[in-house]
Amino acid sequence: MSTSKTKDSYKIAVVPGDGIGQEVMKATIDVLNSLDIDFEYVYGDAGDECLERTGTALPSETLDMIRESDACLFGAAGETAADVIVKIRQEMKMFANLRPVKAYPNTNSLSDDIDFMIVRENTEGMYIADEESYTDEGAVAKRIITREAERRIIDYAFNYAAENNKSKVTGVHKANVLKKTDGLFKEIFYEVAKDYPDIATEDFYVDATAMYLITQPESFEIIVTTNLFGDILSDEGAGLVGGLGLIPSANIGEDGALFEPVHGSAPDIAGQNKANPIAMMLSSIMMLRYLGENDSADRFESAILKVLNDANKLTSDLGGSATTTELADEIIKNL
Ligand code: NAI
Ligand code: MG
Repeated sequence: MSTSKTKDSYKIAVVPGDGIGQEVMKATIDVLNSLDIDFEYVYGDAGDECLERTGTALPSETLDMIRESDACLFGAAGETAADVIVKIRQEMKMFANLRPVKAYPNTNSLSDDIDFMIVRENTEGMYIADEESYTDEGAVAKRIITREAERRIIDYAFNYAAENNKSKVTGVHKANVLKKTDGLFKEIFYEVAKDYPDIATEDFYVDATAMYLITQPESFEIIVTTNLFGDILSDEGAGLVGGLGLIPSANIGEDGALFEPVHGSAPDIAGQNKANPIAMMLSSIMMLRYLGENDSADRFESAILKVLNDANKLTSDLGGSATTTELADEIIKNL
């Protein structure tokens, strides 16, 4: 995911959105401003409140702004999420969805030794949602697998492994049943693997993978898979390490990249300064690595780790009593 295009200054599109999106974004920007990097932020409107105010949940100016930026930070949308975030991913052709699954201290993770990345194809597979109209018998959905898109995502996964000192990539499919579509995925997986002779490979069926994630989660480094399987396995991954407040993600395309927490606008706690900003912060750390700012990313992540080691300094979802702003201030102190 990291590029080497470290620049003197970056233009960042910031779309806080609804509910706790606003609060976790502010906390994250406060920490980013404490790093020695020159960011120019341009703020964009989107989401439920934007719809109420302007009549559209995703104004075209916001999309243009994202297009013209080096990267985008996105908070959360509410009920308009499908019209906002799903639309941005499609419009920007963000083909790779990256979800790191990592165990942090003081969290409900199944094992302390979990640290892997799910690389999910974001543009085709089952989620083209091409469901023919009902038939006499029921309904039919099409699953599209193209050589080009699968080669692109598999190559992305191997390249990510190479750049991040990972030693193994696991391809996940169901080629024993879906012989043509997933047969093709598996074939391309091993073709691409030949370009990366230093990286070990294995492939598993998706159902077995679902079990191995529970029985031996430490054994995974990078998982690459098609759209629907990636969606399901990444929520299983979130369950492994416990808690929406800690799960970041990245959407990467040829023309841009967007970084967002996996959680939504959390209307139940919005406006109370209670939200855990760490998922948004970890998303911004993925952005720093994407921009090639690895030293700052390491500094930021270590500061978060220090705070995670002290249960008193955490927000209530992690058993503490700190507010969003107190947690952010503590992280800034630890930088
Ligand atoms: P949610 O992720 O907003 O909240 C689920 C539960 O987790 C809530 O109890 C919430 O308080 C808690 N939670 C989530 N993030 C937290 C954080 N950072 N710190 C502490 N607690 C946290 O999901 P929900 O309730 O299903 O959806 C609420 C709204 O968000 C809906 O309108 C939905 O459409 C939208 N949504 C938007 C997404 C996006 O913009 N990417 C993703 C998921 C939901
Ligand atoms: Mg999902």
